[in-house]
Amino acid sequence: MSLVSNPTQHPLRFRQAFAADSPVLSKIHEECFPNYWDSNAFTNFFGIENTRAVLVELHDGKKPQPVGMMVYRVVHEQSDIITIAIRPNWRRQGLARELLSRAFSHARALGAKAMFLDVEEGNQAAMVLYDRLGFKQINRRKGYYKQKDGSYTDALVMTCALGSLS
Ligand SMILES: CC(C)(COP(=O)(O)OP(=O)(O)OC[C@H]1O[C@@H](n2cnc3c(N)ncnc32)[C@H](O)[C@@H]1OP(=O)(O)O)[C@@H](O)C(=O)NCCC(=O)NCCS
Repeated sequence: MSLVSNPTQHPLRFRQAFAADSPVLSKIHEECFPNYWDSNAFTNFFGIENTRAVLVELHDGKKPQPVGMMVYRVVHEQSDIITIAIRPNWRRQGLARELLSRAFSHARALGAKAMFLDVEEGNQAAMVLYDRLGFKQINRRKGYYKQKDGSYTDALVMTCALGSLS
């Protein structure tokens, strides 16, 4: 059963993304992050073994409209969320939670025992989301993110055991 609420009449579909989707993934990233990754950055991810991407699209009978996406990697017992973003008009409807749930299931099926991610200190929406899913902070990378004004902010490294998704 999906926990996603969708106010439109049209279906939302989750599908695996491929290198050809890199421009779309970058466009979503641009809408969601001040320092976004360009299309080449996403294409490079697809060249790294064990890396996967999922795209959420609205299918309204015309061209599918991108709504959100996630990139993650599973290597043996460890899995990492590389990026996750939902376009502003589609937030607070359970989409990020659903994407993470899918990454959890896939990583667990491949034998991973834990998931890791980095989150910028002060990213309240993401912090609450991860907290609700059971992620705990295990480390801090000082000055990891460079801001447009030249200042730096820390990354918090978080992890979650893959058995604990509620
Ligand atoms: C963070 C982000 C991915 C969340 O996506 P989302 O689809 O809106 O999240 P969900 O609807 O699945 O939220 C699930 C839960 O997370 C928490 N949450 C999500 N956004 C929140 C917010 N803005 N404020 C407080 N809690 C929030 C809530 O507990 C929420 O459950 P609820 O709506 O029933 O209260 C989205 O805000 C986003 O794309 N932000 C910009 C990019 C980004 O910061 N990515 C993460 C980088 S580490």
